Amino acid sequence: MSAPVRIERDGEVAVVTVDNPPVNALSHAVRAALLAAIEELDADAAVRAIVLIGAGRNFIAGADVREFDAPPREPMLPGVLARLEACGKPVVAALAGPTLGGGAEAALACHFRCAAADLQLGFPEVNLGLLPGAGGTVRLPRLAGWQPALEMMTSGKPVGRDAAIGHGIVDRPADGELRATAVEWARDLASRGVAPRRVRELPLPPSRPALFEEFLLSLPEAARRLPAPPRIVEALAAAAMLPFDAAQARARTLFFECLNSQESRALRHLFFAERGAQPDRALARPVAQAGVLGSGTMGAGIAIALATGGIGVTLVDAKAEALAAGLGRVHSAIEGAARKGRISAQAASAARERVQGAAALEAVAACDLVIEAVYENMAVKQEVFAKLGALCRPDSVLATNTSTLDVDAIAAASGRAADVVGMHFFSPANVMRLVEIVRGRESSRPALATAHAVARRIGKVAVTVGNCFGFVGNRMLYAYGREKEFMLLEGATPERIDRALVEFGMAMGPNAVGDLAGLDVGWQVRREWAGKPDDPRFYRISDRLAELGRYGQKTGRGFYRYGAPGGQREPDPEVEMLIRDEAARLGVAQREIGDEEIVGRCIFALVNEGAAILEEGIAASPADIDVIWCNGYGFPRHRGGPMFHADAVGLPKVLAAIRRFAADHGERWWTPAALLVTLAERESGFGAWQAARAEAAGRAT
Ligand code: 3HC
Repeated sequence: MSAPVRIERDGEVAVVTVDNPPVNALSHAVRAALLAAIEELDADAAVRAIVLIGAGRNFIAGADVREFDAPPREPMLPGVLARLEACGKPVVAALAGPTLGGGAEAALACHFRCAAADLQLGFPEVNLGLLPGAGGTVRLPRLAGWQPALEMMTSGKPVGRDAAIGHGIVDRPADGELRATAVEWARDLASRGVAPRRVRELPLPPSRPALFEEFLLSLPEAARRLPAPPRIVEALAAAAMLPFDAAQARARTLFFECLNSQESRALRHLFFAERGAQPDRALARPVAQAGVLGSGTMGAGIAIALATGGIGVTLVDAKAEALAAGLGRVHSAIEGAARKGRISAQAASAARERVQGAAALEAVAACDLVIEAVYENMAVKQEVFAKLGALCRPDSVLATNTSTLDVDAIAAASGRAADVVGMHFFSPANVMRLVEIVRGRESSRPALATAHAVARRIGKVAVTVGNCFGFVGNRMLYAYGREKEFMLLEGATPERIDRALVEFGMAMGPNAVGDLAGLDVGWQVRREWAGKPDDPRFYRISDRLAELGRYGQKTGRGFYRYGAPGGQREPDPEVEMLIRDEAARLGVAQREIGDEEIVGRCIFALVNEGAAILEEGIAASPADIDVIWCNGYGFPRHRGGPMFHADAVGLPKVLAAIRRFAADHGERWWTPAALLVTLAERESGFGAWQAARAEAAGRAT
């Protein structure tokens, strides 16, 4: 293994390179070696200036997140960076690519900063439930001012090079070769005898005492309730009021409070879960051109995601009008992304050019991947796959975007089931990050690896799941939705249920989600669902509303009524009446239902179904379930996903609640999954179960 920090001499300039692939994180070994390098070079009379640079494509992507669960080890980052800043010789930071968190803080501890055009400098600690704990809160405002510091640190969003220069964070661009440019600058500084420009010695910009309080109040309420955002604001307020070292000490205390919070643990869990087990990338086949069948909302969304991700798209729809509408949607979404500055004008025009329309299926014959997004009906899909199987190249991968139908039955129709997988995008497909990659009985490893690689390439979080009704996400959704439908009949109003679950942290309540997605969509699925549960209460209210043409926002009426399409939702007394009538018809007694019961029944129904899914091997790990629910269904990230949340509550408590629900509402829907019972009885958790399985698998190989 090469040294994590290298020193090379270029005349009187020493170049210190942090070389810790893949992203130059500041692990213990890097911190120790960096400190030693600075000590050595500061004492070396032959060295007159220093350049700090990262090996590979970026400077430093931050602290090593893997070390956060272990006790901190000296030398710690704030001390290393204080020593770097105290260096008696000018230190030039040569910045490139992701320069994040502790990496951005290291850049601020250098005396001068130049940057390559691809710089992305930011403080994403908030996404991990943390605050910049190694001097960022005391140094950044001295360069950039209070408002940019508050915004960058509470949003976690990085800025590009121009903005970094505009904020005074970066001194100059480096448009030539980065290292050579930085060395030349360092040599020039040394030859002119320029003294180190230490950020800690710069004056603080003026501030008003109310500034921080006002900023805090401007944050969304949900953010204010989390540990990190208020502490970030507090650390910056301390920087405005206290001397440098005292303010840094305060930031450090706040950092450790965040680090030890359950919310930060949950967010760190998701950080690694989202980068979890990937199929062997070497097996993936190259994909330059993809076919998308069906130009409705879903097909167009998939086409946008592929085209903006750099993949050519042939969008097929037999109906000329539908095709024109789909292409129109693709073009306007790409233009919208450019207008909002999400992609450059150049990237937008390249993306537009990548999308071609076609009327005939034959147009996809030469595609590397074909994604079918036609009407959700088995016969229709089987007909399409029979044709695709015959006409597509033998090495192309054929994917279905079905959300509930049997992938094996679709695959069988193709006559080449090994090439068939599910690629279950979520709507709108160009916005939602999740893709479930469905493994059919005969799906080959290269086909799965190809689908995975494409999803990742276009910026999605991809999770491999097994084939069953609803796969992982929608199967669990049916358990969650079942309980909320039962509680509607039992007397909880739609808004009461939504409010309780939003209070728990869900991005939206389930009834508001139904109205947004369209109640006709689920109704259609349930009409096609051969094995639909025969309980008359099952989705009774959703189905009744859909039967009445109350499809939700698009018809102005659903669980709620809407002033205008997409407008403010209001409770609808007609719905309350309808629910009362249905309850009476089914003989369900109505009562007052508290928030605790609403949350308990919905969330523990999810957990119980998740445990069954794990037992059956439909999901490979509890972390995969958490990723699916946090990225596809608005589960609160700071709770880490349903399975992580269950571990935090404690499985014995979860099991006791499920048994109580079984006693009150019957065994039929509340039989605890065997895995949940076993783990609860051992006072263990899903996380520990997974770790033990991974260890056993490691021993076996
Ligand atoms: N620590 C440890 N490992 C890290 C890491 C970090 N900070 N950042 C990335 N990695 C690992 C990933 O786990 C992944 O490992 P794997 O290959 O074994 O799965 C590998 O690096 C590559 O990461 P990505 O798959 O995310 O690669 P991308 O190219 O898509 O993205 C990136 C690169 C933009 C740097 C992205 O990884 C990222 O955003 N990383 C997190 C940065 C961050 O949050 N930094 C702040 C840390 S907290 C901190 O610094 C506290 C300080 O104030 C004291």
